[in-house]
Amino acid sequence: MKKIIYSLPLLIVMSACGGTDNGNGGTGTEPTSNAATGTESTATAQDPASKKGIGKFTDVKIAPTMDAAMSDAGIKIYDVKCASCHKLTDERLVGPGWKGVTERRTPEWVMNFSTNVDEMLTKDPEAQALLEICLVRMPNQNLSDDDARHIYEFMRKNDGVK
Ligand code: HEC
Repeated sequence: MKKIIYSLPLLIVMSACGGTDNGNGGTGTEPTSNAATGTESTATAQDPASKKGIGKFTDVKIAPTMDAAMSDAGIKIYDVKCASCHKLTDERLVGPGWKGVTERRTPEWVMNFSTNVDEMLTKDPEAQALLEICLVRMPNQNLSDDDARHIYEFMRKNDGVK
């Protein structure tokens, strides 16, 4: 009687996060928590920093440098419609502080959230996670697409983009 010794091939599970950086300019946040998931090769893993959210913005082109005219338009809207709930530091007021938001999120996600907040809070897991922390549903601010883009530029300025 022969005994066959099988040597089990070690399956190296590659991180699914590497290929999803769709040119959003280096978000710099690579999650490092794959070690624990072992051999489950679920193809669903997507880096939160590459998610685009739900709404009309699917491909926003962002220049490497900040556009001062857009940002100036953005700060005016911020003062009137956002400042009562969002600080520019990382401190939470009613909603999260905006410091670093352009590093945590894609432009698409931010602009979809800003213009399509009800659907985002109902369907987007990242948005729902924020709601769990903040406990207040952000009201729809009735922004135009341009408003959302201008505010996003102001957020970039706030995050130190020159
Ligand atoms: C009445 C308070 C309130 C106002 C006004 C408000 N927000 Fe919010 N915002 C929130 C809350 C609360 C959250 C967290 C999600 C939730 O609980 O709904 C949030 C989350 C966000 C996020 C996600 C932040 C992150 O860290 O990912 C963005 C982007 C955002 N708001 C944009 C805006 C913009 C742009 C305006 C102004 C046009 C605005 N908000 C006005 C309350 C507000």
